[in-house]
Formats: sequence, C-alpha cells, structure tokens
Amino acid sequence: MPSSTTYQRRRGQLLEYFDRTAAQAWSKLTSDAPVSGIRATVREGRRRMFENVLSCMPHDLRGLKVLDAGCGTGTLSVEMAKRGAQVTAIDIAPTLVGFARERFEGHVFESGGTIDFRVGDLSDATLGDFDYVVALDSLIHYRAPDMVRVLTELAPRVSKGMCFTFAPRTPLLWVFWISGRLFPRSDRAPAIEPVTEHRLRTLMSKDSPMTSFKVCKSLRVGHFFYTSHALQLVRQ
Ligand SMILES: C[S@@+](CC[C@H](N)C(=O)[O-])C[C@H]1O[C@@H](n2cnc3c(N)ncnc32)[C@H](O)[C@@H]1O
Repeated sequence: MPSSTTYQRRRGQLLEYFDRTAAQAWSKLTSDAPVSGIRATVREGRRRMFENVLSCMPHDLRGLKVLDAGCGTGTLSVEMAKRGAQVTAIDIAPTLVGFARERFEGHVFESGGTIDFRVGDLSDATLGDFDYVVALDSLIHYRAPDMVRVLTELAPRVSKGMCFTFAPRTPLLWVFWISGRLFPRSDRAPAIEPVTEHRLRTLMSKDSPMTSFKVCKSLRVGHFFYTSHALQLVRQ
C-alpha cells in the first residue's frame, strides 16, 4: 500500500464516505431500483464505462484470475464471473462488501467463474498474482502520483493487463460530478482529483514496473453528470 500521507489520508476519508455516508446510496445506484434525475444519468454513464472496462479483457475469461480493485457492491465482479473469471473482489468499505456478499455470495456461475469478496486495500500484496486488474472509478479520488504508485505496486503481480479509470481534467468536470451533486451538500464525497491523460502517461513512463506496460486503449465517457476516462494497459 502506498505509504504517502496523501494516500493514507484520502483512503481514510473514502472509507468513512463509502462505508457510512454513502453506503445506502451506492447500494441503490448499483441496483435495479428506480432512480431519477442526476442519479439516472450517472447510472447510464457508469453502464457505458462498465462496458468499456469489460472491453479491455477477452470476452471469455475462463481460467483467468482477475482483481476487481475497489469492487464496491460487486457489479463488475459478477459480470466477469459470468464470463468465467476467478475474481478476487476487494474494497476498503466493509458495508459495501457486505451488500455485495448479500447479493452474490454463493451464486453458482454456469461458466465456472467464482468471486472471492474481501475487505481491504486494493494494493494488498498478499492477494497474490493476477492475469488482469480492473479499477472502475476506485482511483479517481487519489492524487495522480498516488494513483500511479498504486499501479506501480500492482504491476509486478499482473501478467496480462490492467484497466483503470481516472477523472479527466476538463473544464466541465469542475461544475458537476457525482461527488458534488449526487448527495446533499453535507454528504459530499471526498474530492475527485482530475488529471490529464498526458500527465498520467508521463508519470507512468518514469516508473520502471510501469514501463513493461503499454497503453492500448484510451476510452472516455461523458454523459451529463458522469465523466470518466479508462486506460487499458497491456503487458508488452
Ligand atoms: C466510486 S466507487 C466504485 C465502486 C465499483 N468499482 C463500481 O464501479 O461500482 C469507489 C470504490 O473504491 C473503493 N476504494 C477506494 N480506495 C480504495 C482502496 N485503497 N482499496 C480498496 N477499495 C478502495 C471505495 O470504498 C469505493 O467502494
């Protein structure tokens, strides 16, 4: 786990936020329950990004080990397990992992896929090695150097590829996003940390474990109040 004070502080804020303040709202947003207005646009934007992240891996994931880093309520984990993956799904927020377990633990996937839900830090080295790592909107609250430190720690344990999203630094992003608008003012999320793709690529090019990966896909979703950008990194 990155030891920088900025990472540790932000991680603590995110734990408080996702485990308590927003746990119920996240559970609802990631379920089929009706939502209206801004939340509906966020749900649709996330659905599109979800598809983008899945497109960074083979459709058939049988026999492959995947880490869902910052799994939340487990929606992406389930789709990967349906495709046959052996998924390790980890999140720092025990409440969200609890919701995920209630929804999916014990589910038998026809494909043979499995999900092992865990509570902890997504960079925990004791989780072992993976073919793929996906981090869907779980690193967007960390400063760019901390985000790259996380990827650098994961990199030696990843044999095929990683896909993560970041909040692209666009003018519009300053006037909306889930953290600012989805919840009442008192319940707002810790700030997101917008960054340009250029800065991320520059930071990654300086870290030796990251230089074994090349960027293969760069995919942005901008849908009303939801903006997110995915980078697919493939081991070369
Ligand atoms: C915006 S939510 C996205 C959840 C899920 N990936 C999805 O798309 O539905 C971000 C998640 O990342 C988790 N998270 C943030 N930092 C983490 C860390 N260092 N280790 C594990 N989980 C983390 C949060 O608890 C939260 O559940």
